Amino acid sequence: MNATMPAGMKRLDLRDKKVLVTGAASGIGFACCELMGARGADVIVTDIDPEAAAQASGKLNRAGMSAQALQLDVGSRRSIATAFAGIETLDILISNAGTGARIPAADMPEEDWRRVIDINLTGGFLAAQEAARRMGTRGKGAILFVASIMGLIGGGLYPNAAYQASKGALVNLTRTLALEWADRGIRVNAVAPGFVRTPLTLGLLSDPEMEKAILASTPMGRLIEPVEVAEAAAFLVSDAASMITGVTLPIDGGWTSR
Ligand code: NAI
Repeated sequence: MNATMPAGMKRLDLRDKKVLVTGAASGIGFACCELMGARGADVIVTDIDPEAAAQASGKLNRAGMSAQALQLDVGSRRSIATAFAGIETLDILISNAGTGARIPAADMPEEDWRRVIDINLTGGFLAAQEAARRMGTRGKGAILFVASIMGLIGGGLYPNAAYQASKGALVNLTRTLALEWADRGIRVNAVAPGFVRTPLTLGLLSDPEMEKAILASTPMGRLIEPVEVAEAAAFLVSDAASMITGVTLPIDGGWTSR
């Protein structure tokens, strides 16, 4: 973006915004970092894997963007607190890190259930809490949860109960935090992607029958690219979405409209 652009277009600009992304070294998280960095944001690339985070932020810096790496395991309250301790102010949080447990519900060990809920839901909540504390003081901020279409439907292709439950809870957490923090100038939204081509879905998509079933459920007939999720995320956290809060935007090629 540059000074010759119409004012409306500048509202997508993220210059002077500090953005923290969790699970940022790969897939959707990294695509968010790349796009937001390209739009001028100062990006804090956080990941459970510190080397992967350093590599990712190095890539952004070499491309002329402003980025730094930080280890942050959203499954650990202590790790979240430690990572945020060094951050004074924040404009945008992309709460992206997530995991699943493809185990039939009747057989699922409690520890697998708790691990998924801890990472996807509790970790997202604690990160949002830390972020909001650094936004409220400035009277403005934006939080975005990466939920899933699996938070809007029951699943059905394979068993993944803890994932579905945690993503559904994120959709409603988005609404309730939006209401609670509206008067502090903090907007809270979510994206709900369908199947995105990332390392997370590599195994699943290598099964031709599964890929066929996924494409058959996607009216637009193809998988989603990480940048297509990043485009929606970058819009929702920008000033272009200044009156949008509490919504979950499906990015699913029509899946949830069937
Ligand atoms: P990915 O596997 O490509 O990347 C996940 C990143 O998170 C990795 O860099 C990994 O090191 C990091 N990570 C794992 N556990 C972590 C933890 N405890 N704390 C911090 N970082 C951690 O995954 P992908 O596909 O980009 O997924 C990102 C988010 O998008 C997840 O929340 C996932 O549920 C969601 N999503 C993904 C979809 C897909 O089809 N790929 C569809 C809908 C939602």
